[in-house]
Amino acid sequence: MTITANWSYPTAIKFGAGRIKELADHCKAVGMKKPLLITDRGLAPMAITQNALEILEAGGLGRAIFAEVDPNPNDVNLEAGIRAFKDGGHDGVVAFGGGSGLDLGKCVAFMAGQTRPVWDFEDIGDWWTRASVEGIAPIIAVPTTAGTGSEVGRASVITNSADHVKKVIFHPKFLPAVTICDPELTVGMPKVITAGTGMDAFAHCLEAYSSPFYHPMSAGIALEGMRLVKEYLPRAYRDGTDIEARANMMSAAAMGAVAFQKGLGAIHSLSHPVGAIYNTHHGMTNAVVMPPVLRFNRPAIEEKIARAAAYLGIAGGFDGFYDYVLQLREELGVPNKLAALGVGTDRIDEMAEMAIVDPTAGGNPVELTLDAAKKLFAECI
Ligand SMILES: NC(=O)c1ccc[n+]([C@@H]2O[C@H](COP(=O)([O-])OP(=O)(O)OC[C@H]3O[C@@H](n4cnc5c(N)ncnc54)[C@H](O)[C@@H]3O)[C@@H](O)[C@H]2O)c1
Ligand SMILES: [Fe+2]
Repeated sequence: MTITANWSYPTAIKFGAGRIKELADHCKAVGMKKPLLITDRGLAPMAITQNALEILEAGGLGRAIFAEVDPNPNDVNLEAGIRAFKDGGHDGVVAFGGGSGLDLGKCVAFMAGQTRPVWDFEDIGDWWTRASVEGIAPIIAVPTTAGTGSEVGRASVITNSADHVKKVIFHPKFLPAVTICDPELTVGMPKVITAGTGMDAFAHCLEAYSSPFYHPMSAGIALEGMRLVKEYLPRAYRDGTDIEARANMMSAAAMGAVAFQKGLGAIHSLSHPVGAIYNTHHGMTNAVVMPPVLRFNRPAIEEKIARAAAYLGIAGGFDGFYDYVLQLREELGVPNKLAALGVGTDRIDEMAEMAIVDPTAGGNPVELTLDAAKKLFAECI
């Protein structure tokens, strides 16, 4: 058998409590003189954000912020961000926040150099080669949640505000030049965000590990990522100031995202339409749909999951793992059904159509047919 694959783990990560103080130095090292800090509306007034702006200002880099960013950011946010970047004469982006701020910030830096519409760079085939590389501005990423792993990823998830579809926009240059992982920034996350983002990291590891593609490096990273979540997410949830737990969750988040080069699956395929239509939190949505998807995939992954369970110190093979997931969800206050997140049954057909064409569907270990997607949604809601 000939094995071929494309593997990529190149982000420079500055990891550790308090390292946000290096922000201005890293900006300068990649050539920024006038960076624009991009974050979401909720984070803008918070002390961690104001502190980052002060560090930039003290470093002689000005104090510019763009924060017209919604959760599940969209093309309207993107257009406004590109305008702010160009009008302000900026030369780089500090993408600051959870997945929403990071994704929008990365996409602004990329689109600042393009003439084609953003949808031309959807993660399909070699569409990314359409981009002109010269104008892409450098990115420094600073995550403030521990879940999406967008800080080490080469894509942004942008919702199309016209048809409410979440699109993955991809280019190798979306990769931040430097990522600062400072767990102190995540201390103020409300419990529900700690739970949701932590479960997103877990979903990335679980789906990457379960996908059928050949990528043993990612499989190994995904396994250890699941172990970190198992050991530290309940701790971070119980006591948000537990820096050791927060730090290990930051690692798990980054690991989940490098692992999902191996593929994602139906947890994300179901979650994307729900998030795009009902604006639910991405990770929380994943957590709700996780058990039904595990049951659906069981025939293809039973043995693999039994191996993971053994590594995680869970007795009972697949069943033990499944029970563990239920227990973890309960411990984190995750609801059992999507109805609790405001999702109704009236748009199941439409969401199922969206789920089966979602780019993550191809990585699911059992084929996600239209019929299966409808049944899964009915179960989850
Ligand atoms: N690029 C990728 O590879 C990738 C992967 C998974 C998900 N995503 C996307 O990421 C987005 C979700 O990101 P998220 O789960 O990090 O949530 P988020 O960025 O939407 O943040 C959720 C909420 O938490 C607040 N918040 C963030 N950090 C905080 C902190 N330290 N203290 C207090 N409040 C804080 C925000 O203001 C916001 O209100 C979705 O749009 C999803 O599609 C992207
Ligand atoms: Fe995710």
